[in-house]
Amino acid sequence: MINLLNKKILLIICGGISAYKSLEIIRGLRKNNAQVKTILTKSAKEFVTPLSITSLSQEKVYDDLFSVENESEMDHISLSRWADLILVAPITANTISKLSSGSSDDLASTVILASDKEIYLAPAMNVRMWEHPSTKRNVNKLLNYGYKIIGPEIGDMACGEFGKGKMSEPNEILKQIEVHFKNTKNNNKLKALVTAGPTREFIDPVRFISNRSSGKQGYEIAKSLRDNGFETTLISGQTDLDPLSGLNFIKVETAQEMFDETLKNLPADVAVFTAAVADYKITNYENTKIKKKEKFNLTLEKNIDILDKISKHNSLRPKLTIGFAAETNNLVENSIKKLEEKNCDWIIANDISDNSIGFDSDDNQISIFYKDKKNENLKKMSKSLVASEIVNRVIEKLN
Ligand code: CTP
Repeated sequence: MINLLNKKILLIICGGISAYKSLEIIRGLRKNNAQVKTILTKSAKEFVTPLSITSLSQEKVYDDLFSVENESEMDHISLSRWADLILVAPITANTISKLSSGSSDDLASTVILASDKEIYLAPAMNVRMWEHPSTKRNVNKLLNYGYKIIGPEIGDMACGEFGKGKMSEPNEILKQIEVHFKNTKNNNKLKALVTAGPTREFIDPVRFISNRSSGKQGYEIAKSLRDNGFETTLISGQTDLDPLSGLNFIKVETAQEMFDETLKNLPADVAVFTAAVADYKITNYENTKIKKKEKFNLTLEKNIDILDKISKHNSLRPKLTIGFAAETNNLVENSIKKLEEKNCDWIIANDISDNSIGFDSDDNQISIFYKDKKNENLKKMSKSLVASEIVNRVIEKLN
């Protein structure tokens, strides 16, 4: 981990069985010379003691908004200004709900609401609570407000159930904090933009046409760019994947929205267009829900081609513009055609007729077609390894 000397981290611990892991986080931060102040919510005190935290952090523990002593020493506004970064680990469904509605009824929520700093949240709760529509809605709201979410992970839970909801391991959380400070340290950091997932083209307010793209490969590429210090924007269609933290995550539905967000987030040094953009949109969109009929005709027209528009843009074309090609046949021929016609630097092609590397698979097998050198065939590997292979080549090229 990088040296965090002079970095000030405000750790907020909420009540949950994984609160004990926060002691490990304090230890890791202190080992790397960060200064750590801690706020304990009322229920957190049922799980960890102020004494153990003070011994590890060598700092006073804050726990009561209305404590005269604390407020005279450091009021809640100064506390939130003091921090370079706020980490809430674990954060419970209840605190997530409070933050999503902007409530501030204790020190933790007041400090967060008053903060203008980067805030990372590491949720921990039972799988049903995590999957509850209200939690999902609250988490989406928080992402839109700019909070960064770390985890949660899948695993055995303290309650005896299995599923998603375990707080990420302290090492993973420390890694994200490291990436945060690495990124803010490097003022010359390179910018990357990735599009991923399917787009939706609406027929009426409740129906749309779309495709089978899972978004997995694009998310892995965005993750790898982020972890290699790129200031990364991920513009994603609707997928089942969890939003990524530590980057600018934007969710869209239609191709037009994806295009608008792409324009807004350029210029970039590299852009990787992995999205499966719907080639057609509906021309006879109905504003109200279409009632059942015997027959019904859809009229389609060609959609905007995001890659094509950007790669031919006079001022916004990224230095390195990379397209994807999903092909069921004539892979080489079609990929070279796309490389030329869409004015790309590279086309990354995969054969989607093979189910073992297809849409929802965790593996992929790619061929890279370059504008300026011979194409390469990579062997089949996990989508996350494919992402590292691509990003290694991106770094080499930009250097
Ligand atoms: N692409 C895009 N906007 C579109 C269509 C495609 O940005 N409207 C991008 C994809 O993200 C990908 C590349 O163009 O990087 C090629 O996409 P693909 O679906 O393979 O090809 P198409 O151009 O749609 O052509 P076809 O469907 O005929 O193969």
